Amino acid sequence: MKAVVITSPGGPEVLQVQEVENPRIADGEVLIKVAATALNRADTLQRQGKHPPPAGASPYPGLECSGTVEAVGKGVSRWKIGDQVCALLSGGGYAEKVAVPAGQVLPIPEGISLVDAASFPEVACTVWSTVYMMCNLASGETFLVHGGSSGIGTFAIQLAKHRGVRVFVTAGGEEKLAVCKDLGADVCINYKTEDFVARVKEETGGKGVDVILDSIGASYFQRNLESLNMDGRLFLLGFQTGAVTQVNLASIFAKRIKVQGAGLRSRTPENKATIVSEVEKNVWPAIAAGKVKPVIFKSFPFSDAAEAHRLMESSHHIGKILLIP
Ligand SMILES: NC(=O)c1ccc[n+]([C@@H]2O[C@H](COP(=O)([O-])OP(=O)(O)OC[C@H]3O[C@@H](n4cnc5c(N)ncnc54)[C@H](OP(=O)(O)O)[C@@H]3O)[C@@H](O)[C@H]2O)c1
Repeated sequence: MKAVVITSPGGPEVLQVQEVENPRIADGEVLIKVAATALNRADTLQRQGKHPPPAGASPYPGLECSGTVEAVGKGVSRWKIGDQVCALLSGGGYAEKVAVPAGQVLPIPEGISLVDAASFPEVACTVWSTVYMMCNLASGETFLVHGGSSGIGTFAIQLAKHRGVRVFVTAGGEEKLAVCKDLGADVCINYKTEDFVARVKEETGGKGVDVILDSIGASYFQRNLESLNMDGRLFLLGFQTGAVTQVNLASIFAKRIKVQGAGLRSRTPENKATIVSEVEKNVWPAIAAGKVKPVIFKSFPFSDAAEAHRLMESSHHIGKILLIP
């Protein structure tokens, strides 16, 4: 089969389409003929040699895909050859075929095309597991997502809005904020021209928001603490500005703040299967009802994977970028 291979750690140019061996399926796994995969920031880090695949994972990048089941391993009862599916992967989406534990496979949400479905597994599992399973964001609460125009952000806005939450976002430009507003964001903050702490305080009568989803890291940590309400929850998804900072702990104490972080990729297959099953129960109906739509900026063929990575690293995109074999 063909796969997009990281020929050596480096810039986008190290991504090259090569002929490689087909993956073998183990018991309990499904082999998917890939229709599309989607980019995630982690792919660019993996390409640079900063985010190695977990033990046992495919060496090729790609944390999600959609496609058609081509074979099923022993012990798989839910899926059969010919089923159209999408899946959360530990790697290997940038290939014509990928093997994945059956518990990480989902049906195509009703009303969504096979290709567009590739945009959902990673953002849906990340946002559901962090914001809802761990931070328990509830209807009537307030929620701030940094990077509102990102793949994660565009999904998180729609789901939170659908679940009766008041949504705040930051993004680096008016065009991006306009898209966030269209997706349902109530308070749109241009972090390049405005202090988000002051705006959050102003919009919440001085209280702050209940939950923050952050991938900015060091440079926002103190300001995130200042922006939280009593019993606020801060979830750390990533560290785009670094992981080391100085912090005044007083507000954690005074406001009973909970700080948590987690990565999805390194979870066990059992853990991922639990999340995937919760996503199917709680998120798939919202997609089928048209309340959460795919936000796809651009699709590239595998042969232009380097161009797709350049686009993501430029941050000019809004929502997801797809790669098609
Ligand atoms: N922990 C996990 O399991 C997990 C899973 C998935 C994703 N993530 C992390 O979540 C983040 C988003 O992922 P993605 O795939 O959706 O990537 P993406 O689409 O490339 O999004 C990155 C976003 O960060 C925004 N950004 C950069 N600096 C900012 C700042 N100072 N303030 C506010 N926003 C800022 C960029 O927007 P502007 O252009 O507006 O600056 C861009 O929209 C990444 O850091 C990724 O590693 C973590």
